[in-house]
Amino acid sequence: MAHSVKGFDVGTMNLVGAEQDADGKIKVKLMRHTFLDIEANSFTKNMLKKQKVQYAEMGDKVYVLGDSAFELANIMNKTVRRPMQDGVISPDEADALPIFGLLVEAVLGKPREKGEACYYSIPADPIDASFNIVYHSNVISGALTNLGYTPKPMNEGHAIIFAELAEKDFTGIGISCGGGMFNVCVSYKTIPAISFSTSRAGDWIDKNVAHVLGIKVNRATAIKEKGINLNKPANREEEAVVIYYRNLINYTLANIKTKFEKAEQMPHFPEPVDIVCSGGSSMIGGFIEVFKEELKKLHFPIPINDVRLAEEPLYATAKGCLLAGLSEVE
Ligand SMILES: Nc1ncnc2c1ncn2[C@@H]1O[C@H](COP(=O)(O)OP(=O)(O)OP(=O)(O)O)[C@@H](O)[C@H]1O
Ligand SMILES: [Mg+2]
Repeated sequence: MAHSVKGFDVGTMNLVGAEQDADGKIKVKLMRHTFLDIEANSFTKNMLKKQKVQYAEMGDKVYVLGDSAFELANIMNKTVRRPMQDGVISPDEADALPIFGLLVEAVLGKPREKGEACYYSIPADPIDASFNIVYHSNVISGALTNLGYTPKPMNEGHAIIFAELAEKDFTGIGISCGGGMFNVCVSYKTIPAISFSTSRAGDWIDKNVAHVLGIKVNRATAIKEKGINLNKPANREEEAVVIYYRNLINYTLANIKTKFEKAEQMPHFPEPVDIVCSGGSSMIGGFIEVFKEELKKLHFPIPINDVRLAEEPLYATAKGCLLAGLSEVE
């Protein structure tokens, strides 16, 4: 029997919903976390309907949601709006909160039963930025409650442990390599021993590559996503991407090491553990090889058995949220 729980990954770049269907299979839905507002008139509305674009109306505006917002923004020479920045709801987009509710509904749909539980991802507190996630978490929780869900926050790194390390008794290290942040969780038998986030992630690479090459940020994103191999950069542009990727991975590992050495109550891992990497930023060619190389350079305090990619890097957080939810209702 399918349990009435949903998983929801609230990311800087992507929103992902996960649920179990009647046969117990996990279904996911991904949508870009963007929108575009345009003046509502019968002409634009007709055009949107004809193109089968997903949109919503509010006041005298129509809001084009998700991936279509990108396409339309290009045609209209406008810039899409992104409700989140650096891993949390953006203070610059405060008036976008009602639209956030529309995006949530477009990804998750309505609850299948009254008060259906929705486990949603939140970042761990950042070690290199001054904000905390209280506001962010409350905004998401409010939007979910408005839709009729019972919201349950779930640490993003911990979700990776649930999604990927069942066979290892939920022991190991999960890293979600996103657009706004990296989220790290070291877990011992489902219990998080360390979790933190850092603000160097995909957007950080794009910004820096753009800066050193003197190009626009979205051009840098395109270069990065077009299929680079970190071990075989083909030109100066790709080399810039590699430099920042290495720095990012090294930074993440060094932070885990420091956190681990400073922590007071650290579990003793009787056997070497696995590191699982997920998220869009882990999908670049050669990521795991470079990760292993950087790991070798450090005197890492935890014995590591293997480093691998999540089965479906873009869906692991949403899947983990769902599985954590299911494990609680069972
Ligand atoms: N093939 C690819 N190669 C390299 N980077 C990629 C690729 N595909 C996507 N990305 C990057 O992955 C990032 C988005 O990943 P993801 O969807 O996991 O982030 P998010 O969950 O929305 O963000 P966060 O968790 O940080 O809030 C972006 O920086 C994007 O540029
Ligand atoms: Mg994420």
